[in-house]
Amino acid sequence: MTQATAPGKAILFGEHAVVYDQPAVAIPLSELRTAVTVQDKPGTETPSIYINAKDIHESYWLYERDNKDPLAYAARLALDAMDVHLEHSLELIIESDIPVASGLGSGAATSVAIIRALAYRFNAALENEQVSEIAFKVEQLHHGTPSGIDNTVIAFETPLYYVRKQVHRPISLGNPLYMVLGHCGVSSHTATVVNALRERMLANPEPHRALFKQIGTLVEQGFLALKSGDVELIGTLMDTNHGYLQELGVSIDPLDKLVAAARSAGALGAKLSGAGAGGFMIAAVSETTTEVVAEALRDAGALHTLTTQVRS
Ligand code: PMV
Repeated sequence: MTQATAPGKAILFGEHAVVYDQPAVAIPLSELRTAVTVQDKPGTETPSIYINAKDIHESYWLYERDNKDPLAYAARLALDAMDVHLEHSLELIIESDIPVASGLGSGAATSVAIIRALAYRFNAALENEQVSEIAFKVEQLHHGTPSGIDNTVIAFETPLYYVRKQVHRPISLGNPLYMVLGHCGVSSHTATVVNALRERMLANPEPHRALFKQIGTLVEQGFLALKSGDVELIGTLMDTNHGYLQELGVSIDPLDKLVAAARSAGALGAKLSGAGAGGFMIAAVSETTTEVVAEALRDAGALHTLTTQVRS
């Protein structure tokens, strides 16, 4: 039996603008994980893979699904990359505590954990870069034009400065970062939000381009603040980033309400995280205000809250 796990993720600065080639910063959420266990599945004639996705109560053989199924596609891509042929059947047991459709990277974490679990099973040395590239192909199934930030931060599991198709650089944090996340109660689909923004951008390019550029400049400032450990500035920049995301039309009242509640309870700054139109918001806090802010979010209607310490 072999097992691999992969973390969730949150975007700290730069979502959406990253699709238009601006930089962004993402962090792994190491406390939230997807685990994939590989074990032998005796009693079958033709060797295949049995996918047992416990959380969604679905199980099926690989040959029953085509490559539109993200779990089957991840498993096939991993087997192809390792150039292995099955001698007997295997079961992949997938268990996750990352909420789906919430902007926390559950899809990419599942892909990364499937790829790594199969690599361990076959003693294949897949580099993080290769794991990320394979998971990116699966991400393209989910949302057509992903920037690639989710699969990269999850495969490398480190705070990351990212520019689409160009740069990914681990960030060495100048100070520990404490974050509180709250789910606003509305689920959201990244592809829908990204596509709607693209329509608005095409209809009215100039103001959108200007906002993307402003976000890019803010991300560069955020990157420096993370390196120097200036937590006050990190909070202020998160507030400003949320304002830009509101201007882009990707926030909604329930998210704004949680962002305001976090700030009133003493957070250093707060913003929506990920595609928006639902899902999670994220607040930077000091170690001592973590619980107060989490409680304020629950009082303001957060479905559930998470606290995390980000390490580099
Ligand atoms: O998967 P989400 O909801 O965290 O969204 C990813 C962030 C976007 O910038 C909106 C899309 C992308 O591909 O980078």
